[in-house]
Amino acid sequence: MKRLILPVLFLAVVVLGYMQKELIAAAFQTNPFQGSAESVARGEATWTAHCQVCHGSDGEGNGPASAQLSAKPKDLTMVARAPVFPDGILAFRISEGKNTMPAWKQAFTPDEIWDLVSYIRSKSKKAAKTLILSF
Ligand code: HEC
Repeated sequence: MKRLILPVLFLAVVVLGYMQKELIAAAFQTNPFQGSAESVARGEATWTAHCQVCHGSDGEGNGPASAQLSAKPKDLTMVARAPVFPDGILAFRISEGKNTMPAWKQAFTPDEIWDLVSYIRSKSKKAAKTLILSF
């Protein structure tokens, strides 16, 4: 029985890794518009039109519709910056959605999703160091 623990654990890690391979690949993607004020401005326009209703104008999770949500979005202004929490995982989450968070990959091009990441990061607070979002 005891001898089974390690192989089973190994298999579980491989299977989970395989299921999450897109997420793992996403973690290594970097924002092609890093540091671009134009990208932040484009992202802000999309954010105001599609995201702030739930997430609030700065991404603190306090949009007008947030009270109706069963699971509240986390405060994006406090999410640790790359490399602690990679930009690619933010982009992945926006593309793929999660629970009540809609998936946006049909609505926006990859560049438009990076603009949203630029906007979210532009609102990042100095104190943002350790908050990691659940995968
Ligand atoms: C209908 C409300 C709603 C809208 C509109 C919405 N979100 Fe979300 N979002 C959520 C919720 C709720 C979560 C938390 C999901 C969970 O973990 O269960 C979330 C999670 C996220 C996360 C990960 C943070 C976390 O809490 O894990 C990011 C990044 C994000 N949203 C970005 C966006 C962007 C960008 C847009 C606009 C294109 C957007 N969202 C539009 C409700 C929304």
